[in-house]
This record gives sequence, structure tokens and C-alpha cells, in this order.
Amino acid sequence: KRHLLEAADLDRADATLVLDTAAQIDQALAGREVKKLPTLRGRTVVNLFYEDSTRTRISFELAAKRLSADVINFSAKGSSVSKGESLKDTALTLEAMGADAIVVRHSASGAPHRLANWVRGSVVNAGDGTHEHPTQALLDAYTIRHRLGRLDGVRVAIVGDVLHSRVARSNVWLLTTLGAEVTLVAPPTLLPVGVGSWPVGVSYDLDAVLPKADAVMMLRVQAERMNASFFPSAREYSRRYGLDARRMAALPDEAIVMHPGPMNRGMEIAADVADSVRSTIVEQVGNGVSVRMAVLYLLLGGSTR
Ligand code: CP
Repeated sequence: KRHLLEAADLDRADATLVLDTAAQIDQALAGREVKKLPTLRGRTVVNLFYEDSTRTRISFELAAKRLSADVINFSAKGSSVSKGESLKDTALTLEAMGADAIVVRHSASGAPHRLANWVRGSVVNAGDGTHEHPTQALLDAYTIRHRLGRLDGVRVAIVGDVLHSRVARSNVWLLTTLGAEVTLVAPPTLLPVGVGSWPVGVSYDLDAVLPKADAVMMLRVQAERMNASFFPSAREYSRRYGLDARRMAALPDEAIVMHPGPMNRGMEIAADVADSVRSTIVEQVGNGVSVRMAVLYLLLGGSTR
């Protein structure tokens, strides 16, 4: 494959190859003082970010650098985008300067697909609108497999603002492809139209789902898109769908608590839960570097399927 545009594109073998490659990279770099491989020496990766990001942008930068690629960080703010330059012209300009891969985050769903039609190099979706965030799902799957030893049959509850969440969509496709059983937990107003055709269970009752979950993935409440038509108040949301210490105690003993970040502490997740030993939130960020190294390696430097 030349691009990574959506988790829905990945079959079981594709996804397993990425996870296994990330595990091999982790093994190869474990205990090394210099965490660098020469694989992508002479290649150029451009991070093209039209939306803000902390984790994804920095981990793609680190991943490319650890593979010895040259990295250009392009942020729409402060660029000629402010003069009206289009996504296509911006991408062609970057490619003319030698970009072998473009990692793109954009507020418009489908922007990475359009980009893939315009450029010769690889395109990696780093989050497009409410559509998909495939590398987030890959790092989440990697974290679950690492912590629980498997994905097949693992019961994952994805909780909260599913409506606006590209992380939820990518996780639904990837985790079910890898054999996990996914349940979405949200108020009806925060579930997308058409969720009935997704390969998941749906519940409005978090307390009923927690005792049967091996992993619970809390989603950020996208407060910038939220108003009283979605939910009466932040306090009411937190009371019904927030994960606090009392609720966490209802989880099975080995269950893990996940969040893609950034978190609203005190809203969808209590601070003591986010910082608890069950939380994999910091581990997810670290795994993001290995998984993004694997993606860049497979697209640009390694074997292709
Ligand atoms: N999880 C995630 O995509 O975080 P950023 O928006 O900080 O990249």
C-alpha cells in the first residue's frame, strides 16, 4: 500500500503487520542510548497540519527523525494558506521541494483522500474532520495488545462524544477487524446517525457496561461543538458518562483505562482515574511513536503488501 488514509482500508493482515513491525522496532531500540535507525536516510517527510495538535504532530516528527528521515513541519498558521493558497497548491509546492511522504491533519473530512490523488508520494491521514484518525487507532490497538496480550475477543467500551470523534470511528473499524468486541456508550444525541449499521453494540448506560469491559476508552468531550441540544450541562454529562474512581472500581481487575488525549480532566475522566495504575494514557503516547515509525517504515522504506 502507498497511503494510510483510513483504518477501514486495513484488513487483519495489514493491521497486524503494522503492530508487529512496531513491536520489532520497540525491541530493536530497547536499551539503546541512541534511539535511531538508518532506514529512511535521504527521505523527506512533511507534517502538513491545518489543525492544532500536540501528540500526533510531535510523535510523527520524532518517528521520522528516529528513522533518519529529514522532517519539515508545516503549520497552516503563518504560511501562505493565509493568502488563500489551496491545499492542492500547498501540497504540490511541498512535493516539488522533495517530500516523499505527507502527513496531513485537516478539519475537512476526506482531505487526505483528495491529497492522495494529487501527489506521487505517500499520504498519511493524521486526523481529518470527524472522519478518521487511523494511527491513533493503531496505537490504541498496540497498547491493548501489549497490556492484555491479545485483541481477539477483548471487550472494548468506547465512551462519550462518539458523534464528533474520528478516534472512535477509526477504533471501531480497526478493533473489530482485529477481533475485538466494541460497545459504544453515549447519550443518544452524541451517537452518529447510521450507527445501527456499524459492527458494534450500543448502550446509553455506562454503569451497565463497565463490569464487562476489558478496556474502557474515554473520548474527549468536544466542548467547542457542544451545546444544550447535545446535553443539558457539563455537570450532568460528567454525572452520567464521566469515569470517576467509583465507576472505575466496577471494572474487572485487569481492565485498562484509555484516553487518546487531550483530556478534559474532571469532565469525561476524573484526575485520579487518569493518573491511576490502570490508566494507559501516557503509555499510549509513547506507543504512538513506535506505531508511527512502523507506518512510515512500511510505506516508505520497508516491505509492501
Ligand atoms: N490524540 C490526538 O490526536 O492528540 P493531538 O490532537 O494532540 O494530536
